Amino acid sequence: MMSVPRALTIAGSDPSGGAGVQADLKTFTALGVYGMSAITSLTVQNTEGVLYTKDLPGELVYDQIRVVAEDIGVDSAKTGMLSSSEIVISVAKAVKDFGIDRLVVDTVLKSKGGYPLLKEDSVQALIRELFPLALLVTPNIPEAELLCGEKVEKLRDIELCAKKLLDMGPRAVLIKGGHMRGSKAIDVLYTGGDEFHYFVGDRVKTKNTHGTGCTFSAAITAFIARGYEFYEAIKKAKDYIQGAIEKSLDLGKGNGPLNHMWNLERCTEDF
Ligand SMILES: Nc1ncnc2c1ncn2[C@@H]1O[C@H](COP(=O)(O)OP(=O)(O)OP(=O)(O)O)[C@@H](O)[C@H]1O
Ligand SMILES: [Mg+2]
Repeated sequence: MMSVPRALTIAGSDPSGGAGVQADLKTFTALGVYGMSAITSLTVQNTEGVLYTKDLPGELVYDQIRVVAEDIGVDSAKTGMLSSSEIVISVAKAVKDFGIDRLVVDTVLKSKGGYPLLKEDSVQALIRELFPLALLVTPNIPEAELLCGEKVEKLRDIELCAKKLLDMGPRAVLIKGGHMRGSKAIDVLYTGGDEFHYFVGDRVKTKNTHGTGCTFSAAITAFIARGYEFYEAIKKAKDYIQGAIEKSLDLGKGNGPLNHMWNLERCTEDF
């Protein structure tokens, strides 16, 4: 019998398939990991934006995590859209109860178009309940600004903010530079001390960036499930996201999705 790494995403559903749970499961699959999902909220969205969302009760989120953790087991997990304090608290309880110790927290606060995906009064719950349980938190620039309470414009600001975020309890902080300007997309990893690690990619000129954050954190989670330490996992995930953006798909009328399967091209041709 084949053994396979097992990863769980705890996130919102995106019917257009480019972000959220759907993007995470595609990413897990493309990277050779068995994917599972606990859905937190149903979003009604497409490439043009989010129309509205409907949260699931915290208990239902907890039970989805429970049944897969008790039955199949979880080598690593990630969180995406958590929407409310009730869901944040349920997820934190499940992570503790079922000993999920390799957790990536993607600090999803708003959609690309500005639709709130975590209520403003739930941000403190996210920091208090989930940050101390996280192996890694992955804010983008606007999220870093909100969590740190100051403008993040230069690399120096990113480093100072990363230090602040590390003090909130995660083992490591990765601030993503997708929202910065310049010819490079630079992500900064901080694990303590005076050293910062930079992951640098060429910025791709494309409007097809629906789900970049979800896909990137899912890729990190997949490589962690496969046993890589998080520095290596991030390096490999950065290569994967770069290819997925370069080969993105012109679907929909707005910000199109990435090509989650770009690394399997040969495999699809064979079929
Ligand atoms: N145009 C681009 N070209 C190359 N890399 C990019 C581009 N946009 C984002 N990235 C990279 O994609 C990853 C995700 O970062 P980003 O800052 O877009 O996340 P995000 O804002 O959380 O995404 P989302 O809006 O989907 O939540 C990072 O590695 C970032 O550097
Ligand atoms: Mg994001």
